[in-house]
Amino acid sequence: MSDKVAKLELDGKTYDLPVLKPTLGPDVLDIRKLYGEADVFTFDPGFTSTAACESAITYIDGDVGELLYRGYPIEQLAEKSTHLEVCYLLLYGELPTAAQLADFTQRVTKHTMVHEQMHYFFRGFRRDAHPMATMVGVVGAMAAFYHDSTDINDPWQREVAAIRMIAKLPTIAAMAYKYSVGQPFVYPKNALSYAGNFLHMCFAVPAEEYVVSPILEKAMDRIMMLHADHEQNASTSTVRLAGSSGANPFACIAAGIACLWGPAHGGANQACLEMLKEIGTVDRIPEYIAKAKDKSSGFRLMGFGHRVYKNFDPRAKVMKESADEVLGLLGIENNPLLQVAKELERIALEDDYFVSKKLYPNVDFYSGIILEAMGFPTSMFTPIFAISRTVGWISQWKEMIADKNQKIGRPRQLYIGPQKRDYVDLRHR
Ligand code: ACO
Repeated sequence: MSDKVAKLELDGKTYDLPVLKPTLGPDVLDIRKLYGEADVFTFDPGFTSTAACESAITYIDGDVGELLYRGYPIEQLAEKSTHLEVCYLLLYGELPTAAQLADFTQRVTKHTMVHEQMHYFFRGFRRDAHPMATMVGVVGAMAAFYHDSTDINDPWQREVAAIRMIAKLPTIAAMAYKYSVGQPFVYPKNALSYAGNFLHMCFAVPAEEYVVSPILEKAMDRIMMLHADHEQNASTSTVRLAGSSGANPFACIAAGIACLWGPAHGGANQACLEMLKEIGTVDRIPEYIAKAKDKSSGFRLMGFGHRVYKNFDPRAKVMKESADEVLGLLGIENNPLLQVAKELERIALEDDYFVSKKLYPNVDFYSGIILEAMGFPTSMFTPIFAISRTVGWISQWKEMIADKNQKIGRPRQLYIGPQKRDYVDLRHR
C-alpha cells in the first residue's frame, strides 16, 4: 500500500480508492470496498484492467516484451536452466541448490507411473478421441485414483498432489497420444530426463529401440520451460477460480486444461500450423493477409497477437532460435511450411495493419513448427502445452490456497435482461 489515493466522484460524493504498489508494473487501485460504500460495480469484461489476485510468481511487461519467472528473465533461464529446475523455482520461489534439485528430480521421477487401473479408464474413450479430450477426463479422474492427495487443507497432500501432477501429466499426455494412434502405452523410463522420457513415451514402440535425440530433448525441454507459467492468463485464472471454491487440485487442473484447449489460447499452436498448411505456398500469403484484415471474414492470423504483449513475445524470440536450430540439425530448413512461416512473419511485421495494432508473432507461431519437425501430429501440440503449463497452474493454485485473503471467486455483472415481470400462463402467451 502507498500513501497515494485515487478519488472517484459519483453523484456528488467523493470516494477514496487506495493505490496499491506492486514491486513491478503499474499501480493498482483497490476497489474492494467500492460496492459497499458507493453501491456501484466496475465493468471490465475480459479483465483487461482488473487484477484478480496478488501473486509473486511471474511478471510480464507486455510493452517492452519481458517475462520474468520469480524475477529471472526467461531468456536467461532458456539459455542456462532446465524445465525441472524452473518447476522448482516456480513452485518454491528460489532456484534450487544442487542437493535440492537432485531431491526434487528424484521426487518427480518417483511419481511418473500412473495407477495401472488408469489404463482401463483410457480404453473407455473413442479410439480417435482428441488427446486434449482424453486429458481433461483423465486428469479430472486423478481425484478418484489419488484420493489421498485431495485434502486441500493439508499442506503435505497439496505438495504430493503438485508433484504427482508434474510427474504424471507427461505420462498421461503420451498415453492419450498412443491411444489415439492405436499403439500400446509405453511406461516411463526414469533414467531419462523429464523431456527425454516424454519423447520416449510418445515415440517408442515395443518392436523397436528408440533412442532419444539430445537435440530434440533439449528443444522439448525448452518448449516446456517457455510455457511453464504466464501469470493470470485464461487457463490459470480458470484454475484459480475453480480452486477458490475449495475444489480438489486435480479437478482444478482439469478445468485449466479444458480452458487451454480453446484456439484463442493453447489451441493456437494447432490452429497456427493448420493455417500454415492451408496457406501451403508463399504466393498465397497475400490472400490470407487480406482475409485477416477483413473483419467480416472472421479469420485471424493464428500465432499473431497477444492480450498482454504489445511488443515481441520474448518466448517467441527464444522459440524462433530453437526452431532454426532444430530444423537445421534435422536438415529440413527448406521445409515448405517453414518458408511460408518465415515469409508470413516478414510480411506481417511490415504491414501497417499488424504494425499499428502491435500484432507480433507469439510463442505458438514457432512452437508448432518445431513440434511438427519432431514428428508430433498437430493434435498433440496443445497437450504438450498443458504438460508444460501444469507447474504454473499448480504453483498459482498453491499460492492461492496459502493466501489468507483468498475468497471464492464471484464476479458481478452489468445486468441487461428484462425488468421484473409476472409469469404469463401458457394459454395467454
Ligand atoms: N489477426 C488479425 N487481426 C487480429 C489478430 C490476428 N491474429 N489479433 C488481433 N487482431 C485485431 C483484432 O481484430 C482487433 O482489431 P480492432 O481493434 O480493429 O477491432 C485488434 O487486433 C485487437 O484484438 P483483440 O481481439 O481485441 O485483442 P485481444 O487482446 O482480446 O486478443 C488474442 C488477443 C486472443 C491472442 C488475439 O490476438 C488472437 O485471436 N490471436 C490469434 C490466436 C492466437 O495466436 N492465440 C495465442 C495467444 S498466445 C498463447 O495463448 C500462448
